[in-house]
Amino acid sequence: MVEAILDIRGLEKTYAGGIAALRPTDLAIRKGEIFALLGPNGAGKTTLIGCVCGLVTPTAGGISAFGLDMARDWRKARARIGLVPQELSIDMFERVGRTVAFSRALFGLPADPRRIERLLKSLSLWDKRDTPVRELSGGMKRRVLIAKALAHDPEILFLDEPTAGVDVELRRDMWGLIGELREQGVTIILTTHYIEEAEEMADRIGVIDRGELKLVEDKHALMARLGRTEARITLAVALDVVPESLSGFPVALGEAGSVLCYRGSGEADPQTGIAALVKRLVAEGIDFTGLDVRQSSLEDIFVDLIGDRPEAKPA
Ligand SMILES: Nc1ncnc2c1ncn2[C@@H]1O[C@H](COP(=O)(O)OP(=O)(O)OP(=O)(O)O)[C@@H](O)[C@H]1O
Ligand SMILES: [Mg+2]
Repeated sequence: MVEAILDIRGLEKTYAGGIAALRPTDLAIRKGEIFALLGPNGAGKTTLIGCVCGLVTPTAGGISAFGLDMARDWRKARARIGLVPQELSIDMFERVGRTVAFSRALFGLPADPRRIERLLKSLSLWDKRDTPVRELSGGMKRRVLIAKALAHDPEILFLDEPTAGVDVELRRDMWGLIGELREQGVTIILTTHYIEEAEEMADRIGVIDRGELKLVEDKHALMARLGRTEARITLAVALDVVPESLSGFPVALGEAGSVLCYRGSGEADPQTGIAALVKRLVAEGIDFTGLDVRQSSLEDIFVDLIGDRPEAKPA
């Protein structure tokens, strides 16, 4: 069992006005993992992050980070956590280089111009170091938020919708950067509406809906458990019924017997998987002219879990 770097127990938040944004929630984050928190708008993702980062006062529950109780050792623990907030919260009149250096100083760390230079270069902000933040584009401002969050070398990094409103190229850069941070041993918790982002990056997935953490699971296990493999096999000669020799496979005939439709689990089963089916067809001399296989994505799984409420569709 990998050590939990962040341990959330019974965390609850009810905002003034009575909205239960977070129902009692337990979550242990492992050191060095990338954890993606998925959920529709208003699910409670930012509230959860806000509680850990001290922006939201929990109604109940406890949080410990690095073995420190966040209520008792708040400053010590918070100094090792970075946050890229969802909302642009940044001094628009300050210059890029200075605002990033300031974020480091805020945690009482000595100035380190070379570290700041490396950081700005890695985010392609070095050329903009003397530009006032207000003159940057939205995507550039988001990079500045990331630089600010990393300025004090945090061991846990929260990224709340880091790629909302950024172009494809910057998204790629951001994924690259997150990968590098992981290699340096930084633990990363991100929220995203781009499910393929979670599919690409995350080690584990948490799904939250209406304040309730519905599941937490290893990404591959989740996709194997809830995923589906579907295939359409176009037959050379149409069949009237599924032959007896294929009775062990999850298949049915479609399109007047000209297509064999396969629908199996996400796991590649050696007995009933698609590869076994193809071998059987060949062995039985059932000729086919086309084979189209489709694996369900994390997005399909997410929609299945959250349902098809209009507000629940991933953006
Ligand atoms: N400061 C606040 N005061 C009152 N209610 C709030 C406050 N902040 C959030 N809420 C409510 O709490 C619920 C959860 O909001 P939260 O921002 O945590 O959701 P989210 O999952 O981050 O959503 P999104 O994907 O839109 O960012 C929502 O119903 C929201 O309206
Ligand atoms: Mg949010």
